[in-house]
Amino acid sequence: MRRKIVVGNWKMNNTITESAALATAIVGELGAGFSGCEVGIAPTFIALQEAGSIIEGSAVQLVAQNCHYENDGAFTGEVSARMVKAAGCSYVIIGHSERRQFFGETNATVNLRVKKALSEGLKVILCVGETLGERESGIMASVVTTQVREGLAGVSDITEIVVAYEPVWAIGTGKTASSAQAEEVHLLIRTTIAELYGQKAASHLRIQYGGSVKPSNAVELFAMPNIDGGLIGGAALNAADFVAIIRAAS
Ligand code: PGA
Repeated sequence: MRRKIVVGNWKMNNTITESAALATAIVGELGAGFSGCEVGIAPTFIALQEAGSIIEGSAVQLVAQNCHYENDGAFTGEVSARMVKAAGCSYVIIGHSERRQFFGETNATVNLRVKKALSEGLKVILCVGETLGERESGIMASVVTTQVREGLAGVSDITEIVVAYEPVWAIGTGKTASSAQAEEVHLLIRTTIAELYGQKAASHLRIQYGGSVKPSNAVELFAMPNIDGGLIGGAALNAADFVAIIRAAS
């Protein structure tokens, strides 16, 4: 039985003070002793330490939104895997579609980041997903399976990997993939992983769905056999909504 995992991706939202308030509200809403599923929050880099100190001792884990593949050096504006690990993160999100779309991430750079993060002892949430144009032109399956294969190239052990399927057309648009549409792609991802790593590894892999998950659609999505939780954007910025989604996974 796979343990579900729900992570709030705060993206470029909230100052340090606002992040602290949101983290406090989430821990409060969740209550002490929560153990229904794995939970994480991904504030901006500058708020990691403050949010981390607030969630310490709770069921909520600290997650980074990205990391670079070099340890240090002349990479203005970047933060390394080693740094986010030292800041207390247990997971890092890699290859989010906004990174691919706006910041030039490719499957090759995603792969470098995945390998570096793993080597620093971070767990990885590897994001994949097709655009609307790719879906409409019938290449969704090849786009997603290529992202999986190339993102994981050279990774021999996927124990510390979570895959997040996030159709780009459903992110922040209010358009959720139907549970059947999402399940179809989750199954495709699991089948691809089985080809690469064998049936056992594939059956243990958690695959989150992301894209306009809300309290009102979370139960149905999380009930699908291959959907193992969610990567939540907009709804993760409201403590009550985020915790409602967590409870839907629990
Ligand atoms: P959304 O974002 O929930 O706002 O659609 C999801 C994500 O990008 O991780």
